[in-house]
Amino acid sequence: MAITTCIFDAYGTLFDVGAAARHAAAEPGREAFAKDWPQIAEHWRLKQLQYTWLRAVVNAHTDFWQVTQDGLDWALEFSGHGDDPELRERLLQLYWELEAYPEVPAMLNALKSQGINTAILSNGSPAMLDGAVQSAGIGDVLDDVLSVESVGIFKPASVVYDLVGKRFDCAAKEVLFVSSNGWDAAAAAGYGFATAWVNRAGDPVDRLPAKPDHFLNDLTGIPGLAGA
Ligand code: LAC
Repeated sequence: MAITTCIFDAYGTLFDVGAAARHAAAEPGREAFAKDWPQIAEHWRLKQLQYTWLRAVVNAHTDFWQVTQDGLDWALEFSGHGDDPELRERLLQLYWELEAYPEVPAMLNALKSQGINTAILSNGSPAMLDGAVQSAGIGDVLDDVLSVESVGIFKPASVVYDLVGKRFDCAAKEVLFVSSNGWDAAAAAGYGFATAWVNRAGDPVDRLPAKPDHFLNDLTGIPGLAGA
C-alpha cells in the first residue's frame, strides 16, 4: 500500500538530544563538566526513557518535562555535579532549543512536495515540542505535532500510535513511522506501521517481538522510502 503519511519521533530522531550537554560543555567556566558531559548526556537520556516506561507500567503518568528533569538530576548526582543548580538550569534551558539534525528541513520539504502528510508523534509535552519546532524553524513543513499528553501515557503504549490514524484518517499500512529509538521503531512495526529505524550510532537491533522494515544511518533516505 502506498505511503500517505510520514510520522516522526522527535527527540533523537529530528532533534539532537546530545546538543544541550555538548553546547553547555563548550561554554567558558565549565571545564569540570566538559570532562564528564558525554557520560552525563548518556545517563540523562537513559534515565529519562526508563522513567517513561516505568511510569507507564505502574500507571503513574507525569509529563515529559518532569521525567526530563528527573533524569538529569539522577545523571548530575551520579557524576558528582548534583550541587550545581546553575548548570542544571542551563542544561534544561538548552533542552528547549535543541538543534534539528542538518538534513531535517530539506527532508521534510521533499516529503511535502511529494504530497505526503508529515507529523511528529512524541512523548514530549506540547509546550516542549512547540519550543523545539519553533527553534528548528520546521513548523511550516509539519502538518501536525501529536503529543502523548492527549492520551496520558508514554510510548510504546498502542493508544499513542492510535493517534496517527485518528488524526490523518489512514490505515496503519499507509504510515511510514520513523524513529531513532530501536524500541519505538520495534513497537511501531508491531503495531502495523511501515517503519524506518534511524540508527546513527550503529547500535545492535533491539531483541523485541517485531523488527523495523528499514534501517537507515540518517534521514536523507526517507523521501525515497515514502515515495517507493
Ligand atoms: C520522543 C522520544 C521517545 O520524542 O524520543 O517520543
